[in-house]
Amino acid sequence: MTALPIENSRASRRRRGVARSGPTATGNVRSNPAPRSRVRATDPASGAPGIATLNATFAELGVPRPLVASLAEGGIAVPFPIQAAALPDALAGLDVLGRGRTGSGKTLAFSIPLAARLAGGHTSAGRPRGLVLVPTRELASQVQAVLVPLVRAMDLSVTTIFGGTGQNPQVAALRRRVDIVVACPGRLADLIEQGHCHLGDVEISVLDEADHMADLGFLPVVRRLMDATPQEGQRMLFSATLDNAVDVLVRRFLNEPSVHSVDPPAPPASMVHHLLTVAPADRVGVVAALAGGSGRSLVFTRTKHGAERLTRQLAAAGVSVVQLHGNLGQGARERSLASFAAGAARVMVATDIAARGIHVAGIDLVIHADPPAEHKAYLHRSGRTARAGADGVVITVQSPAQAGDVRALMRRAGVNPLAASVSPGSALVRSIAGPPAAKAGSAGQRRAAERTVTASPAAGRGAVAMSVGHGGRRRR
Ligand SMILES: Nc1ncnc2c1ncn2[C@@H]1O[C@H](COP(=O)(O)OP(=O)(O)OP(=O)(O)O)[C@@H](O)[C@H]1O
Ligand SMILES: [Mg+2]
Repeated sequence: MTALPIENSRASRRRRGVARSGPTATGNVRSNPAPRSRVRATDPASGAPGIATLNATFAELGVPRPLVASLAEGGIAVPFPIQAAALPDALAGLDVLGRGRTGSGKTLAFSIPLAARLAGGHTSAGRPRGLVLVPTRELASQVQAVLVPLVRAMDLSVTTIFGGTGQNPQVAALRRRVDIVVACPGRLADLIEQGHCHLGDVEISVLDEADHMADLGFLPVVRRLMDATPQEGQRMLFSATLDNAVDVLVRRFLNEPSVHSVDPPAPPASMVHHLLTVAPADRVGVVAALAGGSGRSLVFTRTKHGAERLTRQLAAAGVSVVQLHGNLGQGARERSLASFAAGAARVMVATDIAARGIHVAGIDLVIHADPPAEHKAYLHRSGRTARAGADGVVITVQSPAQAGDVRALMRRAGVNPLAASVSPGSALVRSIAGPPAAKAGSAGQRRAAERTVTASPAAGRGAVAMSVGHGGRRRR
């Protein structure tokens, strides 16, 4: 299902003054020095590549010593396969098109080269030399957190630029000559327009979740931003689903990219998929029974209002729950994610803003309370569990009327789920959920939440506040 867009790539012939050793794969596309078939055969989830080319240490792959030390300090000692495959070329300055499944370590595959190659250079005020574009604010913060120890080790600096928060600190960071910017496209474009930032010195740019950045909603601004970076700069595109959607970016911005695709297209066995058919009246009850177990669950809904409503309903059922979606202010979004990541809340209800890239360790269940719109969303949402070699369970809750669409979506995702019809009390639901967790909130609070749910399904934020730290204003 994930055909890399290599055959169609018509890269411009830019020169970057770096050695381009290694065989040519298809037409003008340069392949990994190791044969791609061998790289593809490696399962990143195992973390134990079975072939010699992928057994190298970070140092042997060319990672500078201070970065090796910094990685080791953070417990990262052995490169994951996407890193083993992409790092030599990325460190050599080549353009890279990288696909590895969700949770396979793509962030370090581009962060290490950023820190390594920008070290020792000069950055001017308002003119970063490294740029990472990502689709959501949460992902920007997360990528920054990965970069911080690496850039410190190389005497560099990094900042985030995204909306929903004041621009003054971001402008101040740019003035202080920040080397690397991790940005959401909209706010970065604003700051450029206001003259606070120029991309003319960017030596390395990265598009994380590249196929999503090529979606219609992002493409015009992403193209404008990338056009503002120098043609001879290094560009890297990464995603778990790097399909033909990125063609438009590959053709325009990549030069003879080195292509790395390091896992089989089907999701790995460590991720178990259930498809549960429920009567519409039972949907909330089944989700509450699943999320009410002692594991940690991430629950996806299709809409922001749907997320708000389901959060209230789960809270009323005594589930320790927070929510993450675009109707919340940035402060509330950050508090929700922090609370879920720290384990203070066992359950987070989210829209697709949490579907891509977000890493929270130890999520046991991903529950599609609303089936996603398409197969790529299914893979990314589901990929919030079973990361970095861990196990995970994915449950799709469908109504009988949704069955046809969901079947087609699963087929395209290459998933063959365990299917059953269930109600909230079914033994299967109990066995997936595991032992019930202690109920959150006092009985009085739960009754208040229930009253709010009954009285006003689309409003009543006070009820949610019993488990969700609301501080933000409403956002569109
Ligand atoms: N070499 C490594 N050794 C041990 N852990 C690693 C290694 N590389 C990455 N990880 C860990 O694996 C987890 C997943 O990494 P990351 O978020 O980069 O995945 P990803 O491929 O970008 O996934 P997604 O497609 O969902 O964005 C992180 O916790 C990261 O610290
Ligand atoms: Mg990622």
